[in-house]
Amino acid sequence: MPRPVGATTRGTTNPNRLRRVDNWIAVHCGDLLREAPDPLVVDLGYGETPVTTVELRARLATAVRPDVRVVGLEIDPARVAAAAPVADPPGLTFVRGGFELAGLRPVVVRAFNVLRQYDEPAVAPAWRTMTEALAPDGVLVEGTCDELGRLASWVLLDHAGPRSLTLAAKLSTLDTPARLAERLPKALIHHNVPGERVHAFIDALSGGWRDAAPYATFGPRQRWLRAVAAVREAGWPVLDRPARWPVGEGTVGGAAGAPAP
Ligand SMILES: C[S@@+](CC[C@H](N)C(=O)[O-])C[C@H]1O[C@@H](n2cnc3c(N)ncnc32)[C@H](O)[C@@H]1O
Repeated sequence: MPRPVGATTRGTTNPNRLRRVDNWIAVHCGDLLREAPDPLVVDLGYGETPVTTVELRARLATAVRPDVRVVGLEIDPARVAAAAPVADPPGLTFVRGGFELAGLRPVVVRAFNVLRQYDEPAVAPAWRTMTEALAPDGVLVEGTCDELGRLASWVLLDHAGPRSLTLAAKLSTLDTPARLAERLPKALIHHNVPGERVHAFIDALSGGWRDAAPYATFGPRQRWLRAVAAVREAGWPVLDRPARWPVGEGTVGGAAGAPAP
């Protein structure tokens, strides 16, 4: 077994805080998993309790395929031992490991609220180590959210590097999309300054949201829908189908998600 790459960090987690990214994975990585001979998903860094790993498995088993295999990887051996009682092999297991992915070749890796606790220079090597370990068409979903999962953002990467950036929010409590800047992935959070593409993207979304204020009478979903439409009309490469916008997501491809450190 390779030596786990990385360092133990705070293990804070919360039930249901990763629902937005889980649902997005089911939609955007669903076909990849359906077509995979071995539908293996790794949840890297699940924290003090494995609650979000259990939820990920349940969501993917329902929405994508019942035989999905989720492995929770933790660098902290005490957290691996603590998760053992909820293991449900072969669909749900817990193993000690780090960014090298413990010799596994997963189709999808979800790494949430892990790199946030590292310094920015650690991001590029961690991304590289994880993407090198993926199955040939595999993807890494690396991101951050707040305590309750009301604000979240994540980058999708494959072997070639970042493919997209997604911002997601609970719309009923969102005052402005600018709030999402606090929860950008580590690779981007220090780049949210004028002149950087991620800043321009958040600015465009916030402007669209402001201009769509009259739609607030029809509910925040309608307002968000108008804001994302305005961003697309302004030329941003919005990747989601409009059907996904009302859930409070916006995904852009290309350089907005890719100011690689
Ligand atoms: C804040 S918790 C995140 C819990 C959960 N993913 C969530 O978002 O609610 C971060 C966890 O990542 C673990 N961790 C940090 N670096 C790691 C690495 N390189 N490999 C595996 N786990 C790691 C820490 O030990 C910690 O338990």
